[in-house]
Amino acid sequence: MMVVFIPGDGIGPEITNQARKILDVIGSKYSRKFQYEYALLGGVAIDEVGVPLPQETIDKCMASKAVFLGAVGGHKWDDLPGHLRPEAGLLGIRKALGLYANLRPTLLFPQLKAASTLKEEVLGDGLDIMIVRELTGGMYFGDKGREEVDGDERAWDVEVYTASEIERVTRLAFELARDREGHLTSIDKANVLESSRLWRSVVEKVSEDYKDVTLNHMYVDNAAMQLVRNPHQFDVIVTNNIFGDILSDEAGMLTGSLGMLPSASLGDGNIGLYEPIHGSAPDIAGKDMANPIASIISIAMMLEYSFNMKEAAQDIYGAVKGVLDKGYRTADIMEPGMIEIGTEKMGDLIAQAI
Ligand code: IPM
Ligand code: MG
Repeated sequence: MMVVFIPGDGIGPEITNQARKILDVIGSKYSRKFQYEYALLGGVAIDEVGVPLPQETIDKCMASKAVFLGAVGGHKWDDLPGHLRPEAGLLGIRKALGLYANLRPTLLFPQLKAASTLKEEVLGDGLDIMIVRELTGGMYFGDKGREEVDGDERAWDVEVYTASEIERVTRLAFELARDREGHLTSIDKANVLESSRLWRSVVEKVSEDYKDVTLNHMYVDNAAMQLVRNPHQFDVIVTNNIFGDILSDEAGMLTGSLGMLPSASLGDGNIGLYEPIHGSAPDIAGKDMANPIASIISIAMMLEYSFNMKEAAQDIYGAVKGVLDKGYRTADIMEPGMIEIGTEKMGDLIAQAI
């Protein structure tokens, strides 16, 4: 079972080490043999081979069962043209592997309630929302360009979706909702955007096959507000690429720290890509300060979705909870009275608890 690790930039390598440590422990606990490959992507790839997404990386990923990705990007590469920036490598690998559905669970660990920006009474007994973000379409991949017209400059990024692109991600979201609370919210901007009107009509049509799941539609501006007003109304959310990018950061912060949130990117093929939703945090890179929990839980998602090892995934969640219960915290979730530890130590403690 081949797993490709793509450490990337900034804190990427440090958190990838912790992710790998956890997979090692699970491998020996369950006598499963994981084989590892490492691949370049993002800024390091630009520095080493001149492009953000080397063909060799695509080939390695294609030959694997699952990919773990740390983080990409950094100020060093900010001035490069769009198609040569580290982020282009990330978008490119998602596209190359056909990973059209990005699952971003927003799960609040009860131990971290105080770290959330929401009041206790809004949080209630916790938070558990699954955001399904379309990942290979929309304005991220639509026609884009820049030109000068009559001495003025203009630029565009076209928001474009086909019905089949909408349908496949919607089906996946309905399937997930079926296994959860049975409620799906589709988020769009159908009062203004034609692409959203298509989105809405496709979602309606797909819903006929999922009568057991309740469906509602919500405009994205309202959704941004509802997420902080009453997050409990959401179970599964499905939305386009750009809205999903924005709303998942918002929802993520409700759980206390982006440092806690994993993601899984899936498609119709057999390969899954797992990455923390936070960025490369260049300001704290190499300082042993980053929170590895998002990466570690991304491994739990890998075990669940790519290797059908649900019990092992539960071991990881349990170990994370246990370590939090003992009061250990990285700087981003530190509170008075708790014990502040670094990246490496957090990884070790969770590994031991497994
Ligand atoms: C994310 C990130 C990426 C995105 C960036 C780094 C290109 O923000 O995964 O949410 O916009 O998809
Ligand atoms: Mg984002």
